[in-house]
Amino acid sequence: MNDIIGTALGPLATNCYIVPGDADNAIVIDPASSGEVEALLSSNDLKAGAIIITHGHFDHFAGVARLRELYGAPVYAPELDREMLASESKSWAWFMHGIDFTPIVPDVFFENGESFSVCGVEFSVMGAPGHTAGSCLLFCKRFGAVFTGDVLFKNGCGRTDGFSGSDRCMAQFPVIITFIPVTVNKLLSAPKKRVLASMIINQKNCQQKFPFVNEVIV
Ligand SMILES: [Fe+2]
Repeated sequence: MNDIIGTALGPLATNCYIVPGDADNAIVIDPASSGEVEALLSSNDLKAGAIIITHGHFDHFAGVARLRELYGAPVYAPELDREMLASESKSWAWFMHGIDFTPIVPDVFFENGESFSVCGVEFSVMGAPGHTAGSCLLFCKRFGAVFTGDVLFKNGCGRTDGFSGSDRCMAQFPVIITFIPVTVNKLLSAPKKRVLASMIINQKNCQQKFPFVNEVIV
């Protein structure tokens, strides 16, 4: 496997991405469940070398405990969403009806402006609070991709009525939208530039807003 795989998982069809890393390692981003991820990894002769959670809603980390147990993979998550990962109510676990909540204590926290490397792949963090305090965009230069979590949604931006959500912060969304092309062009040099959102977004609008985007994976 030499490119990113996207798959929709769980009751909310939350997009999970599997990013190839060094050797047989893969980086799993936002696993809403574990079984499908295990199957995808296995069919590609990969193992989870790391897990990244884009923000603290349970539909983005419901599969993390099992994958961590199976592969011993370290878990990366935004510092500002730390308490959400430990809380059934704050993480909106009730959206994942029928799936038992398991709290997560990440191995590594990341913050706005940081870069970190996992399995030989570098990610740069741009904080984009509003949906949650720790919501961010994760830029991955190697694959020309920006993982947007729930910052982007089909009709605009992610909802702001959950724990640590903020209308005031999300009011900066137009600024974020304006900033994305600048940041993408600065951080992504690959000829193929992609927006990879966690939920379904409007591909046409997205490509109109971001004319540099070659592909939107939803
Ligand atoms: Fe969310």
